[in-house]
Amino acid sequence: MILPSILSADFSRLAEDCRDVLNAGGDFLHIDVMDGHLVPNISFAAPVFKWLRPIFPDVFLDVHLMIDEPVRYAPEMVKAGANNITFHVEAPEVRSDVAAAAREIGKLGCHVGITLKPGTKIETVLPALPYVDLVLIMSVEPGFGGQKFMADQLDKARLIKPMLKPNQRLEIDGGIDEHTIGEARRAGIDWFVAGNAIFGATDRTAAIRRLREAINAGT
Ligand code: DX5
Ligand code: ZN
Repeated sequence: MILPSILSADFSRLAEDCRDVLNAGGDFLHIDVMDGHLVPNISFAAPVFKWLRPIFPDVFLDVHLMIDEPVRYAPEMVKAGANNITFHVEAPEVRSDVAAAAREIGKLGCHVGITLKPGTKIETVLPALPYVDLVLIMSVEPGFGGQKFMADQLDKARLIKPMLKPNQRLEIDGGIDEHTIGEARRAGIDWFVAGNAIFGATDRTAAIRRLREAINAGT
């Protein structure tokens, strides 16, 4: 799956930009919520993305919470239309018991994802593994779009892939473009987030086609 990250959208025309990347071949929408504490940037939250739900009733909304208190805010994210909630193991609210956090978010009826910053060891996600639908590997320092891909993070993907059940997904986020996506595919990734590589392209259909060609070349 290819997930355009709306952090790179033009927010003065958010709905049109989302429609455009979905028409261009994007599968799901990736939604970055940042609180300025867990990551050094503030983006937007439920009051903004809830407007997408009625416009795109059938589109899977993949919400990436880069916030200190993901369990506290998860209910309003689901109410706003989130289909998946991904939380960070570094979040102060959850880091002492990531399994409990995953179970708590799962009670809301959404999918649950777990993720980690580049400097965090992959072992930190293991206690939560039985309770999550996906593991997200961050291939940049979370906070901003348009950064350089950190290929060394693929070691985490290679390590965790054999531990996943067939219904659990492995996602990557940060610096994905037509040059990096093939290597990510070879490391076992099946969901690919891309911000700049899609929203920044003049021909978004061609950009997504090139991403898919590179994925297929990578397998
Ligand atoms: C970074 C965000 C990403 C970002 C990716 O903190 O989590 O989702 O939008 O953007 P690109 O693909 O431009 O690196
Ligand atoms: Zn993200």
